Amino acid sequence: MIIASNFKTTHTRASTRAFVQSIVDMMAQTNSKQEVRIYPPFTALDTFCCNDSMRIGVQNFYPADKGSFTGEIGFEQLGEFGVDSVLIGHSERRHILKESVEFIAQKFDFAKQKGVEIIYCVGEPKEVREQGIDAVMSYIWEQFDGIDTSYDRLVVAYEPVWAIGTGLTAKKEDIEEVLLCLRTKLSCELLYGGSVKTDNIEEILLAKECGGVLVGTASWDADAFSAMIRSADTCKK
Ligand code: PGA
Repeated sequence: MIIASNFKTTHTRASTRAFVQSIVDMMAQTNSKQEVRIYPPFTALDTFCCNDSMRIGVQNFYPADKGSFTGEIGFEQLGEFGVDSVLIGHSERRHILKESVEFIAQKFDFAKQKGVEIIYCVGEPKEVREQGIDAVMSYIWEQFDGIDTSYDRLVVAYEPVWAIGTGLTAKKEDIEEVLLCLRTKLSCELLYGGSVKTDNIEEILLAKECGGVLVGTASWDADAFSAMIRSADTCKK
């Protein structure tokens, strides 16, 4: 399963290095084979000694190799760190940073051309959820406009906006319902994200079609993230 940690704007270079090392050590000791992803802030990118099933990715990038894009980071800079996994479409970038559907599609196309793994995030706000599953799915399908869902390194993360960073987790039945709908058109790995914690990860991983989780807040502590990876190791699915 894919167990991913999105650091957002937490952690420094030193704490990221310590975090990565402790996860690598834990995975070696427990012989864990989970596909672990860690998305630190740009400032903490470095060359880390990962294992074969672990990757360090980025939360954002500008869709260019390099050029006059003040304050942005292009693929030439990411290449220096061997970055091979990117997040696109995260709700905080859609809603707080105002990334448009067109810009998101442009980023997707660029990352696809580069051949990196893309974790593409989709999810509905609270007012749409309150209208029921049909409204939720038509909102989510619109987020696939301009996105090549046949890309072979695509992973889709269902992250209801109302569950991100709020402590409110979607119910297992609701997660399953959305993932099963997504499965009718998508063959890629499907993840869930939104207030995943050590005490609810097991139930979430048991949801049908759930191939892993994208975790923010509760994953920032290395021991907690280790416990989540261990839960995936012992999950009987
Ligand atoms: P959260 O964030 O776990 O803090 O809800 C999830 C995410 O942003 O991917």
